[in-house]
Amino acid sequence: MDAEWMQNGCRNGCTKDMDAESCKMNGVCSKESMYIEESTQKNGMISLIVSLKEEVGALAKVLRLFEEKDISLTHIESRPSRLNKDEYQFFINLDYGDTFALDEIVRRLRKDIGATVHELSRDKKKDAVPWFPRTIQELDRFANQILSYGAELEADHPGFTDAVYRARRKQFADIAFNYRHGQPIPQVSYTEEEKKTWGTVFKELKTLYPTHACFEHNHVFPLLEEYCGYHEDNIPQLEDVSNFLQTCTGFRLRPVAGLLSSRDFLAGLAFRVFHSTQYIRHGSKPMYTPEPDICHELLGHVPLFADRSFAQFSQEIGLASLGAPDEYVEKLATVYWFTVEFGLCKQGGHIKAYGAGLLSSFGELQYCLTDKPEIRPFEPEKTAVQKYPITEFQPVYYVAESFEDAKEKVRKFASTIPRPFSVRYNPYTQSIEVLDSAQQLKNLADSISSEMGLLCSALRKLE
Ligand SMILES: [Fe+2]
Repeated sequence: MDAEWMQNGCRNGCTKDMDAESCKMNGVCSKESMYIEESTQKNGMISLIVSLKEEVGALAKVLRLFEEKDISLTHIESRPSRLNKDEYQFFINLDYGDTFALDEIVRRLRKDIGATVHELSRDKKKDAVPWFPRTIQELDRFANQILSYGAELEADHPGFTDAVYRARRKQFADIAFNYRHGQPIPQVSYTEEEKKTWGTVFKELKTLYPTHACFEHNHVFPLLEEYCGYHEDNIPQLEDVSNFLQTCTGFRLRPVAGLLSSRDFLAGLAFRVFHSTQYIRHGSKPMYTPEPDICHELLGHVPLFADRSFAQFSQEIGLASLGAPDEYVEKLATVYWFTVEFGLCKQGGHIKAYGAGLLSSFGELQYCLTDKPEIRPFEPEKTAVQKYPITEFQPVYYVAESFEDAKEKVRKFASTIPRPFSVRYNPYTQSIEVLDSAQQLKNLADSISSEMGLLCSALRKLE
């Protein structure tokens, strides 16, 4: 088959003509999530973690609330908070008979006392929050959670019977498996055959970019040629590209050893981290690959991640996925598919391609701008439930008015996701702030206030 498909949005191991529903049936996309809040307690028992500012009498105020409602505590432990230096955390087990009384206590803990409260169980697994990384270092955990190792090839993979290629794939998978955040991405000496494959893809695609790619892609591409070794005879090193991206938008690459779940893959985007393959497709079919490879990542994804608006848009999808229920992660993965992978956008009265699956496929890049496929406006609620094939050209594409517009739409869509908190990325600490307490909101207000002051001052100087 000539169609080249890329499955970053659904790195699930599905290899045949599966639509989104079949992917779910594959049982990988919808794998059981690891929950923060396991429902292990018997009826009438609940565990809470209450975080309080360290001050005299703080705990007494908390205990009084329980006493007033006649709820007895069966166990209590304390420890310094890991998230806020000036806070203490209390782990509390309690018996309760009156759900309304407990709800009232939790409400008052949050509102009156300004505590952060996490319910660890109340026989309501449906409301439990799936685990998600809070710091950029925690992305290291994904290396042990890959769904299949990058060296495992399907029987119909062009390199399936090539022992040398398989050994090479294992080398790449091992590099990624052992990689940890903060380390430089190991340099790779690509073979002459690998460079030849890259050269063929590079040369062919470059002829289409001026007429088919979006403005942002065409704007960044010459910079990649100048600073990152993008050249027909040279496969760029991930480390060099990652460093370049960091100077542009703070996005960075990290090598990935195999297929990640949609949840893990999207979580990386919340930290402006893109999980990238480092190997190249099999040399026997340079214009085809049944999976993402370095041509797809470097030619399709990287140029867009250097664009400020696109980077924000991508991060927005990632942030929306953190702690979201499984069915919403599926929806976000589909939104990702129709935007970051196969998105079209309006520019200067024309439609152009910005999706990496298009920008790295010679055949589909031409096809997507013909009158054969159906073109629809990007609307996350509808796009999120659209089925799609993964081994043939897309029959439907979604067009964004602009990346800013698409970002706002994703943000609105994210607000419909049922989760009991909002999240914000703190670039200084490279961590996720969970906005579920008065103190967190005050911190955010301070930060906005400071930015507003700067904006007003800068505007005055322009007058
Ligand atoms: Fe991709």
